[in-house]
Amino acid sequence: MGDTTNLNFAGSHILSIDQFQREDILKIFSTADMMEPYAARQSQTRVLEGAILGNMFFESSTRTRISFGAAFNLLGGEVRETSGFESSAIVKGESLKDTARVLSGYSDIICMRHPTEGSVAEFASASRVPVVNGGDGHNEHPTQALLDLYTIQRELKGSGGNLDSFRIAMIGDLKFGRTVHSLARLLCLFDPSRIVLVSPQELSMPGELVEALKAAGHEVVETDQLNEGISGVDIVYSTRIQEERFPSAEEADLYRGKFRLNQAIYTENCQPNTVIMHPLPRDSRAEANELDSDLDSNPNLAIFRQADNGVLVRMALFALIFDVVHLVDKHASELPWRSTRHNI
Ligand code: NCD
Repeated sequence: MGDTTNLNFAGSHILSIDQFQREDILKIFSTADMMEPYAARQSQTRVLEGAILGNMFFESSTRTRISFGAAFNLLGGEVRETSGFESSAIVKGESLKDTARVLSGYSDIICMRHPTEGSVAEFASASRVPVVNGGDGHNEHPTQALLDLYTIQRELKGSGGNLDSFRIAMIGDLKFGRTVHSLARLLCLFDPSRIVLVSPQELSMPGELVEALKAAGHEVVETDQLNEGISGVDIVYSTRIQEERFPSAEEADLYRGKFRLNQAIYTENCQPNTVIMHPLPRDSRAEANELDSDLDSNPNLAIFRQADNGVLVRMALFALIFDVVHLVDKHASELPWRSTRHNI
């Protein structure tokens, strides 16, 4: 997957993990590390002062939309938002390409989410400014995969692990979950020692991605047994049943609650330091509850650190696309106020 040359980030669209080589990913991660003092409000930078992000979310989103916006703000840029079809001219029959031609005249970069696979790429093909894919249907969610792998790297550091020797179980709706699709593509660039795919058979990882993982030399195990799947792994990556992609709620109900991880199951099957991840939102309704709140006091529950890391990775991508990485610190100044936010 991917071609053999490194990505020239400057002015580039970010549409799929397939655009990246391993070195590109490491560059994003080292740039994300640089963003930490700004995200932690120890200092501020105005490097993107005057730039405008058009945040266009045609499908529900909380953390992706807000963290793209916050990341842009933290670099000194301004954010304009459209959310939902109702508030856009698409309901008047405007094509995606016309919308792209128009909106790219109003902003310097666009982040977009849309319920249809391939729609963000179609939009990008007519956009006059770079477009970042914030999720296109069940296809891809590249920035989520980047923040997921960045989180894995950070969480493994404590136990001396690294991106080329870890074991991961991805659990839940692997058919419709775009985060696991992008993460699988990303894992093809690294060398995890074992990848376990835990799902009901009907919701298994698309064959093309399983084949890509195997072709990359990985040991891939597919199972519908949660306890067996999570035993001996370093990372469990739980996901929600993507009910909005099912023909009906009744069909989604068939799979809800099939793989519930709670503290008792964790203690019985995981290692003492197995890291628990989830792209969020976790479905906390009683009939689903894939990650029980009794895990909230487990120090290995990384889901909120993972969400925080989204800001660092998205800041890094913006800095790379605008080609200002070398200027970020030069445009820094002291913050006149103190944040009272504490780490989780
Ligand atoms: C995910 C998504 O939208 O694909 N959420 C997110 O962006 N963090 C996962 C989900 O909705 O289940």
